[in-house]
Amino acid sequence: MFDTHAHLQDRKLQGDVENILQRAREAGVEKITCIGYDLPSSQEAVLLAHKYKQIYAAVGVHPHDAETVTPEVLERLKGLAKDPKVVAIGEIGLDYYRDLSPRDKQMEAFIEQIKLAHAIGKPIVVHDRDANQDVIDTIKKYKAGKNGGIMHCYSGNLPLAAEAIKAGFYISFAGPLTYKNARQAQEVVVKIPMDRLLVETDCPYLTPEPLRGKINEPAHVRYVVEKMAALRNQHPDEVAYLTDRNARKVYGIKD
Ligand code: NI
Repeated sequence: MFDTHAHLQDRKLQGDVENILQRAREAGVEKITCIGYDLPSSQEAVLLAHKYKQIYAAVGVHPHDAETVTPEVLERLKGLAKDPKVVAIGEIGLDYYRDLSPRDKQMEAFIEQIKLAHAIGKPIVVHDRDANQDVIDTIKKYKAGKNGGIMHCYSGNLPLAAEAIKAGFYISFAGPLTYKNARQAQEVVVKIPMDRLLVETDCPYLTPEPLRGKINEPAHVRYVVEKMAALRNQHPDEVAYLTDRNARKVYGIKD
């Protein structure tokens, strides 16, 4: 399995990375992309990717911290992004649910980082919360999927997922897929093509059932795989194999 979105540099997981990786290995999780959300966490993601063979990194600034995106920060991200173990720019996007940064600033940071991804030829990892239409419009306008991309922890409807796929994106699902109220996400999982699906934990957040309430970690991605398999009426091994293959493809990982 491939956990396409984890925050191993988060304070809740930081001190325990060796044990977390051991448990991931035992659960059959072979690769993990550690995702940045601001400059320091992006630098930490790259350090982890250098330290551990199975970890890859994404660098970028989350919409919550859009106000930290200065020309200097963009330069530093660009320097990091050239590293061979950096496989994407992210997570970037729009969050109108918490609105921790003004929306115009979020949009500006999103666009600047799409341009950064284009400049270095790598895909993007998109965070979208309650901003579905603005995200899809921006992606289309700036041809953001030129080098591929991921809609992370997808929460939109089926027509928007279809538009994202058409724009070059993969659709990734996390723990919420296992929750009772996830009817819309479950419909999307069933109806989009298998070759566009990914799994992730977004750990330490979004712990899947039946472990909800505990701290999340990459080993738990198997519950997302199992749920996806049950919904699609496929064997979990097949879903594990195919989502891993999709992840390697979007992140450009050859080994
Ligand atoms: Ni995340």
